[in-house]
Amino acid sequence: FLFLSLIQPSPVHVLSIDILLVSLWPSEEPVDVVYTEDSPDGRISMNCRARANPPASYRWRRDNWEIKLMEQPDEYYSLVGGNLVITNPRQKKHAGTYICVARNIYGTVISKEARVKFGFVEEFPQEERDPVYVKEGQGAVLLCAPPKVWPQEVTYRWIFNEFPVFLYTDHRRFVSQKTGNLYISKVEAQDAGNYSCFVSSPVTGKSVFSKFIPLIPLPPDDADIRVKFPDTTAMLASNITLECFALGNPIPHIVWRKVDATDLPPNHEISESGAVLHLYNVQYEDVGGYECEAINTKGKDWHKAWLYVESAPEWAETINNTQIDIGSEHTMRCVASGKPFPFIRWYKDGYMKLCSKRNQLSIWLKFSSLTFDDSGMYQCIAENYWGIKYANAELRVIACAPTFEFNPVRKQLLGAKDGRVVIECKPRAAPRPRYTWTKGKELLYNNSRISIMFDGSLEILNATNNDEGMYSCFAENDRGKSNSSGYLTITEATSITEPPEDTEVKVGDEVILRCAASYDPMLDITFIWAIDFRVIDFDSEWEHYERVMVGEDGSGDLRIKNVQIWHEGRYTCVTQTVVDSDTAYADLKIVGVPGPPGVIRVEEIGDTWVKLLWTKGADHNSPIISYTIQTRHNWALNEDDWKDASTTPTFLDGHVEKVEVTDLYPWMEYQFRIIATNEYGSGEASIPSLKIKTWDAAPVISPTDVAGYGGRNGEIVITWTVSKPSVHVT
Ligand SMILES: *[C@@H]1O[C@H](CO)[C@@H](O)[C@H](O)[C@H]1NC(C)=O
Ligand SMILES: *[C@@H]1O[C@H](CO)[C@@H](O)[C@H](O)[C@H]1NC(C)=O
Ligand SMILES: *[C@@H]1O[C@H](CO)[C@@H](O)[C@H](O)[C@H]1NC(C)=O
Ligand SMILES: *[C@@H]1O[C@H](CO)[C@@H](O)[C@H](O)[C@H]1NC(C)=O
Ligand SMILES: *[C@@H]1O[C@H](CO)[C@@H](O)[C@H](O)[C@H]1NC(C)=O
Ligand SMILES: *[C@@H]1O[C@H](CO)[C@@H](O)[C@H](O)[C@H]1NC(C)=O
Repeated sequence: FLFLSLIQPSPVHVLSIDILLVSLWPSEEPVDVVYTEDSPDGRISMNCRARANPPASYRWRRDNWEIKLMEQPDEYYSLVGGNLVITNPRQKKHAGTYICVARNIYGTVISKEARVKFGFVEEFPQEERDPVYVKEGQGAVLLCAPPKVWPQEVTYRWIFNEFPVFLYTDHRRFVSQKTGNLYISKVEAQDAGNYSCFVSSPVTGKSVFSKFIPLIPLPPDDADIRVKFPDTTAMLASNITLECFALGNPIPHIVWRKVDATDLPPNHEISESGAVLHLYNVQYEDVGGYECEAINTKGKDWHKAWLYVESAPEWAETINNTQIDIGSEHTMRCVASGKPFPFIRWYKDGYMKLCSKRNQLSIWLKFSSLTFDDSGMYQCIAENYWGIKYANAELRVIACAPTFEFNPVRKQLLGAKDGRVVIECKPRAAPRPRYTWTKGKELLYNNSRISIMFDGSLEILNATNNDEGMYSCFAENDRGKSNSSGYLTITEATSITEPPEDTEVKVGDEVILRCAASYDPMLDITFIWAIDFRVIDFDSEWEHYERVMVGEDGSGDLRIKNVQIWHEGRYTCVTQTVVDSDTAYADLKIVGVPGPPGVIRVEEIGDTWVKLLWTKGADHNSPIISYTIQTRHNWALNEDDWKDASTTPTFLDGHVEKVEVTDLYPWMEYQFRIIATNEYGSGEASIPSLKIKTWDAAPVISPTDVAGYGGRNGEIVITWTVSKPSVHVT
């Protein structure tokens, strides 16, 4: 009977089956085993027992291979009853699926499969763990980072500071059994310490723990700027906003500054929170570093960034409509300011024009010789990041035969003898014509005296009467030619025959400065007078200046009446005709009484004397002969009551600039002034000195009218009169 044949029993055979079952029935079967190589037992035992009659013999199969137990003794396997015992199991050799096979004469039965697996728990790495810094009041996560474990069912706990003190979890602290991580919702100072993640594998019975992770709580937040304005480029005249926001506890306040400046630009505004700086209408001078500083009681933080200001292009120079001769040179310029420096492009009639010289900033468009093809609409465009500017102009190239219609040579020409004569020749013509000149029938060439100038004009130097005659200018270009003429008359040169002479005159007198000239009688002559290069206006200055009648002889004399000091100077006479002119000059010197001496100062004060100092005044072209000192005292009857003073030395010549005034009264207020005198008399007095008071002194005059008379018994009455100094002065 094979056990397997029992699978199809009929109900009638039930009883006999029972009997058979007892003959061979697996009563103990092996179960799955998880073994840890270094477990203390050092063995695995798998049960197998069959109820069998006669008793069964047992064999085991590993992964369907018969384990040879009977034939040869094995170092690892041994059979105890039906149980298989594996001593010092090794994963490589012994992991697998085991089946127990029981057999007797009636047949063979096999047990359920049982797996032998090797569990493991690796160690945590040996590297030190980084400390975790957390500000008090904030949350923290300590990562477990467990090693490899099999089977994966493990429990996580955390050791606090020393084994075997395990951390209690509570509403603030949580250990995830999925990851092993430790969460602390709000770190407190007492959380400081060393933490180690403890992993236990209940299946293998093994536990490992990590290196300590120090948790270091930090004091509450100091100011920490989190919103930092970046370097900013703004357009000129725009409004900008810089932001700076700080975290911290207590809430920090923010201070704004401009680097290297005492103040923020005037056009600024700071938001109420302090976090936003507005700058309105920014200008180039606002460029620079800006700084925000966040401060609270715990500390401070700061941030700095730069503000740059740029601008759209503006024209500094641009093109205008132009009419210009064919063949001529021409330059168009477009210059723009702006930042960054604008790039300039040119268009002609809507097409981009490439500039030949690329290395130049293409601000020029140059034509060496214009042709009709150059006519058209030109545009230059200045562009930078901030904007674009257009300038438009028409260029019209024109050509015409020379014509004197609008500007003929003057018919009547005048030139002064020995002078320089220029005869203009300015026809309209395009392109520029060639010029030739004739005098009568004679063709003129450049020589030492005569030249045809670039603009077509004819120049004659050191003209003589022989140069008189009919002059014609001929202009010719590829379009045609034209001519124009004028008659040149040479006039006598204008020349001053009697120039003014250097003159000296007394204040109040009258003087005449000569100026007579010879000139061509055909011409009118004018005399112009100037003093120190200022032209005299005879209408407004009639009180002093007058022309002496211009007679037939060509005289233009100047009369100066009631001469004053300020008439002194250099007088220039210019005599001129329409053709030429001549100039002469003379110096006029004015003499008169001296001006007032300069500041007068009291240098030292005594009881009956003072020492005075003064500075010299103007001498008006005549040396000062003497000075007179005058005084006035506080009893003077009127303001003008000045008296000559006694002095040492008595006579003050023109070189003296200090003096001692004597014979003054003590204890009296005085003022002093000084008058200079020269050959022409005495001048104005100086400004009076400040008031001073002489020192006091013992009386020098006795009281007068002393008298005595009897009073009451034993008394005498004495009377006297006090002398007043004024008595002696008058
Ligand atoms: C944490 O460990 C370090 C050394 O590993 C030790 O110096 C320190 O005192 C420990 N801290 C606590 C709170 O035990
Ligand atoms: C700048 O701000 C001022 C005041 O708020 C406003 O009047 C002005 O239009 C602004 N300018 C620009 C360019 O936005
Ligand atoms: C162009 O015209 C403007 C005004 O009409 C004048 O101010 C400017 O100087 C002109 N530019 C040139 C290059 O002629
Ligand atoms: C013109 O005359 C001056 C003297 O009056 C003389 O020095 C000069 O050389 C002359 N110039 C010519 C071109 O003859
Ligand atoms: C004459 O001389 C002037 C310079 O003095 C020069 O510009 C001009 O070209 C000359 N003309 C001729 C025809 O040689
Ligand atoms: C000068 O021009 C006139 C016209 O204005 C012309 O009749 C005359 O022939 C010209 N002379 C010469 C020499 O070309």
